[in-house]
Amino acid sequence: MAEGRFTNPVVASLAGIRDFFAKQELESRFSDRDRADGKTVLVTGANSGLGFALAVEFARRGARVIMAGRSKIPEAGERVSRVAGSDLVEMRYLDLSRIETIHQFTESLKQDGTRIDIAIFNAATALPGSRKTESGQDEMFLVNYLSNVILSQLLIRKGILNQGPSELQSKIIFISSDSHRGATAIDYNEFGKYFEYGVSKGISNYSYFKLVLNTYATELSRRINQQGVILGINLICPGPVHSNIVKEAPWLLRMVLKGIFWVIFKSPAKASRPVVYMALSEDYRGTTNQYLHMFNPKQMDPKVYDPGEGVMLWERSMALLREIDPQSSEYATNGSP
Ligand SMILES: NC(=O)c1ccc[n+]([C@@H]2O[C@H](COP(=O)([O-])OP(=O)(O)OC[C@H]3O[C@@H](n4cnc5c(N)ncnc54)[C@H](OP(=O)(O)O)[C@@H]3O)[C@@H](O)[C@H]2O)c1
Repeated sequence: MAEGRFTNPVVASLAGIRDFFAKQELESRFSDRDRADGKTVLVTGANSGLGFALAVEFARRGARVIMAGRSKIPEAGERVSRVAGSDLVEMRYLDLSRIETIHQFTESLKQDGTRIDIAIFNAATALPGSRKTESGQDEMFLVNYLSNVILSQLLIRKGILNQGPSELQSKIIFISSDSHRGATAIDYNEFGKYFEYGVSKGISNYSYFKLVLNTYATELSRRINQQGVILGINLICPGPVHSNIVKEAPWLLRMVLKGIFWVIFKSPAKASRPVVYMALSEDYRGTTNQYLHMFNPKQMDPKVYDPGEGVMLWERSMALLREIDPQSSEYATNGSP
């Protein structure tokens, strides 16, 4: 059975203490001079937490910001606009637990002729147990992993992301978690299958699905960037963020976790800094498959880099998508996008 690094939510949160005090190797490279004027930035899950802070920061730095989410439309967008002092902010509906909305969202971008320079795959959920989606999968599996496959494939195949030399190429940044480290290898017996589980498996799945996501991102980069980098596909763990990620935890547990968050977790604004650095700094121009843990460059879990695992995950993901997504013929192939 697949297992993530943690099964206890309090232990998982306390692991953030070390991160809170960790030395930040590249922090001095973060600069207000890195601007985003003329760029279009997409942030998923932008109505809350880290995604909201990222939307504010990119808007402040001059970007047109597309905030994708399933709630607080248009209030969150109006707030970002106000706080950042920008009228280049818009919100669009995207519910990553409903596959057809990913098609509608990407099609609306294509119809408008929108080109995205930086796509931040930020949305994720931490649920206290299993929940079945309309298409029959576990919600955390769909939102935290599989929907990111669909969204990235459609953005690439519809030509919404640019591929080419470094000055022209788009960037994808997957928001991951260092808790992916130490998760078990991908279990293809339970891959994409729905079964009932409770809090501890929910916590374990959160970090396990980040391992799955990192493995997909690595394989995507391997396939697209065979002859040199034409699309930057990098990953980052923002460290512990005082956000709404535990909003669905049972009441008592939520209170305990919120207490820990108050004391040791970083504000979303502070946690957004390494993400903005990775997205805008010259240091990461033309790079791919790099991983930052806050401001510290690191290797991911070794399993993530195994090419055999990458091929297997790709093929199993595409096979599953051919079963569950009526529009999968647009993207679900075993070849490169
Ligand atoms: N918090 C941490 O300590 C921490 C640590 C490491 C990594 N991260 C990562 O940081 C990212 C942001 O999380 P956060 O901490 O800022 O938590 P958050 O405040 O809960 O933000 C998560 C965002 O994802 C959205 N989302 C959830 N389900 C969705 C769905 N079905 N469709 C569309 N959007 C959906 C949420 O929208 P709703 O408001 O509508 O639910 C929200 O906007 C996540 O990838 C998380 O794994 C967080």
